[in-house]
Amino acid sequence: MNVQDKIVIVTGASSGIGLATAKLLAEHGAKVVLVSRSKEKLEKLSKEIPLSIAIDADMTKISDIKRVVEQTQEHFGRIDILINNAGQGYDAPIEKTNIDTFHYIFDLDVVGPLAAMQQVIPIMRKLGGGAIINISSGTALMYLPNMGAYSASKRALANISLTAREELKKDNIIISVVYPYITLTDFENNTIKEPANNGEEQAGNAPFPPDSAELVAHKILDGIESEAAEIFAHDWMKKMGRRED
Ligand SMILES: NC(=O)c1ccc[n+]([C@@H]2O[C@H](COP(=O)([O-])OP(=O)(O)OC[C@H]3O[C@@H](n4cnc5c(N)ncnc54)[C@H](OP(=O)(O)O)[C@@H]3O)[C@@H](O)[C@H]2O)c1
Repeated sequence: MNVQDKIVIVTGASSGIGLATAKLLAEHGAKVVLVSRSKEKLEKLSKEIPLSIAIDADMTKISDIKRVVEQTQEHFGRIDILINNAGQGYDAPIEKTNIDTFHYIFDLDVVGPLAAMQQVIPIMRKLGGGAIINISSGTALMYLPNMGAYSASKRALANISLTAREELKKDNIIISVVYPYITLTDFENNTIKEPANNGEEQAGNAPFPPDSAELVAHKILDGIESEAAEIFAHDWMKKMGRRED
């Protein structure tokens, strides 16, 4: 799909990958709806991005998700593309994974995107089509110590996305999943870390240097245009996800 003149909801647009994506899509002629919890940041950003609007919302709250869709409809009268990007990491070994924290991460990284999809699908169907891009993670393709809960959430999101892709083909609604590699954003700072984990970081063992948010934004744009099912930050990631033992 070409993004020119399309109405695009970008969640997590106040920072990192979402921010870079909102800017890039606007440069390519899209009208962007900026969504996150940070009202002031979004309003400032909206002044910098032509034709964009800001809607503050907590993507773990179904009532907020419904309001984002309603306000977008009121303002633009249509929704062509949804980018489910808002998310947060959680570092904890399986043994120490806090169940309440896992519920929160699952709500944000999986249930919120699912609820947002459910809100926009009928609108896109009436329009004759649309695109939904869900931001998963390369960790969904790996078995990294301390990342069990987070990577499981991102794998759940990938499976929901690819299942929805099959279900919605007939409605011309294209669902894609994006797997970023380690990306230089506030993500690591915002990652919830169990104290028992002693702040051990995965980045120290990373095989390649991190990517910029702009690189991932270009991958997301490529994904919208190509309508591919799975978009990997790097080709070598395509071979991941299979154990050899
Ligand atoms: N950076 C990486 O290495 C990496 C790698 C793979 C995948 N990813 C994924 O990429 C996506 C973007 O992450 P990022 O790297 O750009 O991280 P980031 O800089 O921490 O940005 C996260 C965004 O999500 C928003 N957000 C967090 N909780 C929210 C909530 N409850 N409701 C609404 N918005 C919320 C934040 O905005 P507010 O705080 O204003 O609400 C912010 O805009 C995430 O889904 C992440 O899992 C990142």
